[in-house]
Amino acid sequence: MNPEIERRRTFAIIAHPDAGKTSLTEKLLLFGGQIQVAGAVKSNKIKKTATSDWMDIEKQRGISVTTSVMEFDYRDYKINILDTPGHQDFAEDTYRTLTAVDSVIIVVDGAKGVETQTRKLMEVCRMRNTPVIIFVNKMDREAKDPFDLLDELEEELRIKVRPLTWPIESGARFKGVYNIYEKSLNLFQPSKQVVAEKVEVDINTEELDTHIGAELAEKLRGELELLEGVYPEFEVADYLSGSLAPVFFGSALNNFGVEELLNTFVEIAPSPRPVKAEERDVQPDEAKFTGFIFKITANIDPNHRSCVAFCKVCSGKFVRNAPYLHVRHGKTLRFSSPTQFMAQRKTTVDEAWAGDIIGLPDNGTFKIGDTLTEGEQLHYRGLPSFSPEMFKYIENADPMKTKQLQKGIEQLMDEGVAQLFVNQFNGRKIIGTVGQLQFEVIQYRLENEYNAKCRWEPVSLYKACWIESDDEAQLEAFKKRKYQYMAKDREGRDVFLADSGYVLQMAQQDFENIRFHFTSEF
Ligand code: G4P
Repeated sequence: MNPEIERRRTFAIIAHPDAGKTSLTEKLLLFGGQIQVAGAVKSNKIKKTATSDWMDIEKQRGISVTTSVMEFDYRDYKINILDTPGHQDFAEDTYRTLTAVDSVIIVVDGAKGVETQTRKLMEVCRMRNTPVIIFVNKMDREAKDPFDLLDELEEELRIKVRPLTWPIESGARFKGVYNIYEKSLNLFQPSKQVVAEKVEVDINTEELDTHIGAELAEKLRGELELLEGVYPEFEVADYLSGSLAPVFFGSALNNFGVEELLNTFVEIAPSPRPVKAEERDVQPDEAKFTGFIFKITANIDPNHRSCVAFCKVCSGKFVRNAPYLHVRHGKTLRFSSPTQFMAQRKTTVDEAWAGDIIGLPDNGTFKIGDTLTEGEQLHYRGLPSFSPEMFKYIENADPMKTKQLQKGIEQLMDEGVAQLFVNQFNGRKIIGTVGQLQFEVIQYRLENEYNAKCRWEPVSLYKACWIESDDEAQLEAFKKRKYQYMAKDREGRDVFLADSGYVLQMAQQDFENIRFHFTSEF
């Protein structure tokens, strides 16, 4: 493979809010020399209290624009970290970001273990066989027993695990971690700036006792023996196929255990992987450039309507000002100011390689999933849409602005802010979201960017399911029976809007030949 591509590591850090994603990201940037002191990276999470205060959300979104991708060189590697929104109402954004990464680091709070958001995100990783490394954070606080934690990770995340480091106690008694492969002891000293001291020890000698005391030394020997008995040797191939997750322990806040994580990560994490297009699998080291748009971020400055479309380079080399085909539009475009991102800075780039993410200025030319090529008719497959969890009718609140509203809704849906369904019975538009915040975002942006006003009206729905069947007659009979609840998505596919779990269950029972899907790709 081309060495430029081979040395790239493009990944995302995912976590339940508060597990320590921001702290870990910041420490990685510290190692990459991108920032000099801790505390320089702001969290892009929307604090719970801010839901009522729109400007706060705006500010937070602003921060997340500039920090969407962070790049730096570390040793011989080029690291691309894709940031994901911390707030669960923007989970769809995170799902889509996961289509652009080659691997993932999951941060888990050692005291809380696996939480809801972690579980959901892991499901998305599993769908794509994305390799994952788990970092158990906050070991400087009282944590769960590490053996219990490993069991919990296996059970809840449904993936085999293999610890590569091992903690010696936690909380006030936390002594450090033992690196199972390097056979070295990493002694904990709480510090945000200094990297902990490492000592090579033979655990079977008394030297270990001098570092952590005879009692803990004995305990550690016993635990390591047990580990070797329970967990098979670590095989990189199992990690790369997405069936096994190596586990590290540490404290991101104290920059402890982070260097081990990073060093192992760069060595074992995959370089850019082949990407599936409808037509064929595309290899990263193919000569010609191809890429797809996985995320579009609005500009919060009302004087600058333009958005940034994030493009993942899937193959070859992207060159500034070169002509590229926008496959969906059949038009050739040139980009004079593509950007790359370094911590808080944004710079214009002349070229980018497979694995890189570039920001392209966008005035409504792009929609999520759009493909760019050097001329080939190629369509990358994005991530399917998931059945939303909240639904509302969207109504026009200003009859003079019907066109603006229409355009606004179309573009916001192109950006992937939410999903639109049109009820076939009454023709009303229904917006489906993951969380309440998205309704606020839509209303605010329609007013501020499109000069249109909308109003929400309640609709009581449980789930939207995409339906299909080989049995035409039964499909027709179903649509007839449920005509009030049938809708079309933006691609014109049939969607059944079930108003309760019971109704859905009955429908599944009564119409055996119909398949009900909870994601849009099947
Ligand atoms: P997130 O991005 O995943 O939401 O988490 P973030 O890094 O913002 O961390 C959430 C909280 O947990 C922060 O505290 C942070 O300082 C703390 N934290 C992160 N890693 C560790 C760790 O290794 N040990 C300990 N003891 N705490 C950790 P906060 O009070 O919400 O914010 P702040 O005032 O400290 O910034």
